[in-house]
Amino acid sequence: MTVPQPDRQPARSSGTQDRGQLVLALPKGRILKAVTPLLERAGMAPSADCLGDDSRKLRFPTQNPKLDVVRVRSFDVATFVASGGAHIGICGADVLMEFDYPEIYAPLDLGIGGCRVSVAQPVTLPHDPEEWARWSEVRVATKYPAITRRFFAARGINANIVHLHGAMELAPMLGLSRLIVDLVDTGSTLRANGLGEVETITHITSRLIVNRTALKTRPEEIGALINSFRTALEATPPVTEKVKAEQSS
Ligand code: PRP
Repeated sequence: MTVPQPDRQPARSSGTQDRGQLVLALPKGRILKAVTPLLERAGMAPSADCLGDDSRKLRFPTQNPKLDVVRVRSFDVATFVASGGAHIGICGADVLMEFDYPEIYAPLDLGIGGCRVSVAQPVTLPHDPEEWARWSEVRVATKYPAITRRFFAARGINANIVHLHGAMELAPMLGLSRLIVDLVDTGSTLRANGLGEVETITHITSRLIVNRTALKTRPEEIGALINSFRTALEATPPVTEKVKAEQSS
């Protein structure tokens, strides 16, 4: 998918880039908390108000005087980086799979934010894969229309998408859809809303992403940032899903 042209800014044309400042886009919420120790080790921790919920500010200085952080919705991280508004960013592999921006290079798996994109349905419904084989279409509520269409198309099923941006767990109980496709981490959101996971589409982790043009025009600075992340990752290997499971048992 390409970024809408009218909104695109060349990597050096905004006020941000005029001051030579580099911009790192981070997603609000759980990834932001999970990535903070890595940012500290990489020498790019944002100011404390970036991590709190009180501030209405969206842009923050970091430990690195040449780098600012912007805090945006997880889906928008990819759009900011693809458009060149931010030079680098951190987002889930789910966002990259959904948008598939050619302008984005994803050099590092950060090994954090591990979860999965899954199909779920009310626990009161039976799940019979043989029944799926007889379906020609199904209605699905999701914030991932592209991933969902691809998953069902591979099974010969046309997914009629109800495109929501949150609270899709409500869709089956309110008659909007039979199924949902959403992120599942602990599974507690599904359980709290009478839903159960029936198929895992993909396991995901968070990725470091880079604007390809920025990497070409400012290779030393962007390369140094990538190397700082790589060194920080090597210093403390990511917690694997197996270790996480052992820790929580
Ligand atoms: C995601 C997802 C679910 C929830 C799953 O939402 O959309 O609602 O997390 O997590 P769980 O399995 O641990 O309950 P998120 O909190 O990222 O916020 P969002 O609704 O803004 O996407």
